[in-house]
Parts: sequence; C-alpha cells; structure tokens
Amino acid sequence: MKKVTISTLIKMKQQGERISMLTAYDASFAKLFDEQGVDTILIGDSLGMVLMGEDDTLPVTIEQMVYHTRSVRKGTQRAFVIADMPFMSYATTEQTFTNATKLMAAGASMVKMEGGSWLLDSVRGLAERGIPVCGHLGLTPQSVHKLGGFKVQGREEQQADDLLKQALALEEAGAQLLVLECVPTSLANRVTQALSIPVIGIGAGPGTDGQVLVMHDMFGISANYMPKFSKNYLAICGDIRKAVALFIEEVKQGKFPTDEESFS
Ligand code: KIV
Repeated sequence: MKKVTISTLIKMKQQGERISMLTAYDASFAKLFDEQGVDTILIGDSLGMVLMGEDDTLPVTIEQMVYHTRSVRKGTQRAFVIADMPFMSYATTEQTFTNATKLMAAGASMVKMEGGSWLLDSVRGLAERGIPVCGHLGLTPQSVHKLGGFKVQGREEQQADDLLKQALALEEAGAQLLVLECVPTSLANRVTQALSIPVIGIGAGPGTDGQVLVMHDMFGISANYMPKFSKNYLAICGDIRKAVALFIEEVKQGKFPTDEESFS
C-alpha cells in the first residue's frame, strides 16, 4: 500500500489518470473509503449541512473542523487528506496561519480555502511555510449570500475569464490543487487545460482531472435535496462498499459525470 501524496496527484494529472475524492467526517467512513481505494478524502465544511443540519456552511467553526479532521485521519492509511478552512477562519493572513496550523496538527495533509485574488497573500504565505493549499473557485458556498444562492458560476464570458485568471493566480501563488464547483463544462475544461496542478470538479463536467462528491449525496441520504451534479450510487448498488467502488471506477473510466450531471 503506497500512500497518496501531492506528488502522486500531480503525476496522475500528468499521466491522465483521473483522481477520485469523497468527503468524510469520521474515522469509520474514512476507513471504508480508504479501503475501497479513494485517492483523496476531504473533510468538507459541508459537514455543517449534512451532519449539523444547517442551511449553509457558515456556522461551522475551526474547532469542529479540527475534531472531524482528527477522526478522519485516524481512519485513513492511504488516501491524501484535505481539510476545509471554515468561514472567516482565514480572513487575515495571521488568522490563516493560526487556523491552518490547527488543521495540519490534527492530521490534514493540505488545507482548502474558497476564493480568488484576495487570498493570494495567504496562499503564498502558507506555501512558503510548507503548508499545502487547495483553492476552491466557482460556486464558493461560504459566499452563498453574496452570490444570491447556490447557483452555477461563470456562465457570462467576463465572469469565466475572471475565474480563469484567478485560477492561474492561485497556482502561481503556490496552490497545489484546485476544486472547481458548479461551472459550465467548457469553462472547467479551459481551467483544467491551463493549469499544471490537478483540478477536481464537482458539477464541473467530465473534463476535469478528478471528481469529488459529498458522501451523503452519493449515498442519496442528504436531508432535503439531491444536487443535479450528484448521483445516488447506493440506490444503484444497494451496498455502501460497492457504491464507493463504483463511484471510483466511474471516475477513473470517465463515466461520471455525464452531461446529465453537468452544466452548460
Ligand atoms: O465542503 C465540501 O464538502 C466541499 C466540496 C463540495 C468540494 O467543499
């Protein structure tokens, strides 16, 4: 069993091997996903919605992220572990250093932050200090109130060009991975081709270097809502382990997502 590192993920992009990512929030699911061979596990601040039942991710605290990161780390042997920085835990560079340190100490191998240009100093600062960073562009759920809802981003030409510029700037500042959420397939393809770091999509079409789903969505157990970009693998397989294995297989073979789970 060889541990997945950031170098593994970059090599996978270079070799055209797609990257699978699932969210997990506890040791048991992390272990199950790890055993099925998922490449990366994200402790997403989506836990605010799927575990805590909140309407959005804004109430999630750094203490909660630390708690869940520690649990996931304990269940994971092979997969690369990424932890989300929660809302307003990286508003200043100093705050970013303090809170990213807490997540790394809890067992994360990378931290994820939502945003573009305003984040560049923090991304650079973390990278220079040895903390790997994953960017997150497109639909950034922590800005849901500014965006006017959970909506597809980058449909206007100007917006799409801006997003591409921000992605390039994040890579230049030292980000080593990028999550792209809810953008048209054509824009996701442009970003994926322009960047040398891996781009992981969610609602970003089949052309990205990898795919991530929130575990509750892929099991079809999210409280009120099934996003268009997700697929209920548990309903197809009737067994949790088989559902995870099929998700990974479909990502690897480029069978998920199809146009049905993508946006134009
Ligand atoms: O919080 C989360 O689970 C995420 C994924 C949707 C990428 O950021």
